[in-house]
Amino acid sequence: MVLGFLYCNVIRKRAGEACELLLYEIGVRSAHRRKNVGRALLDAMYAWMRDHQIGESWVLADNPGAVAFYRACGFAIEEEVPTYMVAEAT
Ligand SMILES: CC(C)(COP(=O)(O)OP(=O)(O)OC[C@H]1O[C@@H](n2cnc3c(N)ncnc32)[C@H](O)[C@@H]1OP(=O)(O)O)[C@@H](O)C(=O)NCCC(=O)NCCS
Repeated sequence: MVLGFLYCNVIRKRAGEACELLLYEIGVRSAHRRKNVGRALLDAMYAWMRDHQIGESWVLADNPGAVAFYRACGFAIEEEVPTYMVAEAT
């Protein structure tokens, strides 16, 4: 049975490091939360990053539980936070 998943995208960059990793989505089945499944998923992500020489990952956390989880697993909030904006094709 699948207990959780994560979905990342490699972002190729023009300047600085060649690539960074966008952690686009992560989820653990509600009955299996707080059992270190999410931490194991992020450990696998960090191992993949090391194997592929990608130094940094970023995520948009959309709820307080997620913020606490990411903090517990190595993410930190940067001082200068960009503003999230969206547009629709016209
Ligand atoms: C966020 C999520 C992926 C965490 O997965 P998880 O398997 O429950 O997390 P873990 O058990 O590995 O937690 C590791 C540590 O993170 C912190 N943490 C995790 N969930 C937390 C919560 N809801 N509130 C506070 N701290 C939390 C704790 O420090 C925890 O260690 P502890 O249980 O020993 O205290 C899971 O709660 C989930 O799927 N949530 C719904 C989807 C979601 O919000 N995704 C992120 C969108 S940005």
